[in-house]
Amino acid sequence: MQDYHSFLSKILISDEELQNRVRELGEEISQDYAGRKILAICILRGGVMFLTDLIRHIKPPVAIDFMGVSSYGTGARQSDGEVRITLDLTTSIAHKHVLLVEDIIDSGHTISSVLELLRTRDPASLEVCTLLNKTSRREVDVPVKYCGFEIPDKFVFGYGLDMDEYYRNLPFIGVVDLDKYEAEL
Ligand code: IMP
Ligand code: MG
Repeated sequence: MQDYHSFLSKILISDEELQNRVRELGEEISQDYAGRKILAICILRGGVMFLTDLIRHIKPPVAIDFMGVSSYGTGARQSDGEVRITLDLTTSIAHKHVLLVEDIIDSGHTISSVLELLRTRDPASLEVCTLLNKTSRREVDVPVKYCGFEIPDKFVFGYGLDMDEYYRNLPFIGVVDLDKYEAEL
């Protein structure tokens, strides 16, 4: 059993900082969407924790739906640019105010493919809300309306983000020491 302490290089964003920022984002979204209903679409699986915390701070009525997207080959740590939809929405987004909720935008390939697909389905509006943004790694331009934190080019985990599918349950965002992580596999 690999305990995360052995490969945690540092805590980048604490539980408290996350909660404070998520509340601020919820308040900002509440103001912007006053008088409208929101359909929040969570990109599985990394965005789940962010979505459930975020919508608790949104005042207008919120519906949720989920989309599964895969952009990594197994074991890879960066997008290969080829994005596959592994689970589609169950609801129609036509004429709805759609807020796409993502854990992190890295190269931008994942979110831009999802945006391209959703635009064809005629939403009333379509905006992106990401918890984390690695702008320095961007390969395609993505319109990001709401962003929790700009982060450096480091691989991070916790608060929904995984290391080979585990550690999503941690309440903070940590930086992985990849050498130590690989050494222990
Ligand atoms: P993109 O297509 O390169 O923008 O990659 C976005 C997806 O890659 C995110 O939805 C995450 O699932 C994953 N990802 C990117 N960077 C990290 C990271 O540092 N930790 C965990 N997952 C990441
Ligand atoms: Mg993701």
